[in-house]
Amino acid sequence: MKIYAHRGCSGTYPENTLAAFQAAAKLPIDGVEVDVQLTKDGKMVVIHDEKINRTTDGKGYVKDKTLDELQSYDCGSWFSDEWSGERIPTLDEVMDVFQDTAHRLNIEIKSDIFPYDGLVDKVINLATKKGMLDRLLISSFNHEDVQKVCLDTDLDSAIITSQIYVDIYDYARVIGTNRLHVSLPSAFRKMTTNALQKGAIVYVWTVNSLEYAQELQKIGVHGIFTDYPERMLNELK
Ligand code: G3P
Ligand code: MG
Repeated sequence: MKIYAHRGCSGTYPENTLAAFQAAAKLPIDGVEVDVQLTKDGKMVVIHDEKINRTTDGKGYVKDKTLDELQSYDCGSWFSDEWSGERIPTLDEVMDVFQDTAHRLNIEIKSDIFPYDGLVDKVINLATKKGMLDRLLISSFNHEDVQKVCLDTDLDSAIITSQIYVDIYDYARVIGTNRLHVSLPSAFRKMTTNALQKGAIVYVWTVNSLEYAQELQKIGVHGIFTDYPERMLNELK
C-alpha cells in the first residue's frame, strides 16, 4: 500500500509549508499531497483553506490577494512558535523540493468552491517545464476539473469524495478515470469495496491510525494519505 504525506508531514510541521515538504522529501515514501489555489494575480500557491484565517496571521480569501500580499503573512506560528516566519509557498517552490527525489506529486486542485479557471493547465505546464509530468497525479473534489484532465491528457487523475455513491466506479468511469480518493469513513462501505472489485485504484484520506491502515490494507486499498508518514512507514512494515 502506497504512503503519501498529506499536506507534507503535516502532523509534525505546519501543513503545506516548505518545512513540511522538505521533511517528506527525506522519507522513502511513495508521494506527497499538495493543495493548490490561485492568487489574485494568477500565481499558484500551496494552501488548504480558501481563506487564510486558520493557518496564517492574516484574514481573507486567497483569491483576493496577490502573491506578494499572501507571502507577507506568517503561516507557521499557528502551529508552533518554532515555525514562525514560514511563508505560504508557491507550487513552483514546492516542486523544487522534489526535483531530485522519486516521490509522486499528488496535486489537489482546490477548485471545489471557487473555480480557479486555468489552474489545471497551469499545473500541467509547470510540471512539464520542470520535467516532472511523469510523477504527477492530479485530483480534485471538483470533478469537472478531473474530467478536463482525463479529456485533455493521459495523466493519472482521481476524483476525491467524502460522499456516498450507489456506484462510484461507474460514476468515475463516466468522468474518465478509475482512480478514487475517498475519505476514511467511506472506505469500508460497499461503495468502496465494490469499486475495488471492479478494478478501481483507491487511496484513502486521512489515515493517521495504524489499526485503520492495517484494515485498509486487508481490503486491498492501494494507498493512504497520512499526516504522519514516518510513523506509518515504520509501523506498517
Ligand atoms: O486529497 C486528499 C485530501 O487531502 C482531501 O481532503 O480537505 O485534506 O484537502 P483535504
Ligand atoms: Mg488535500
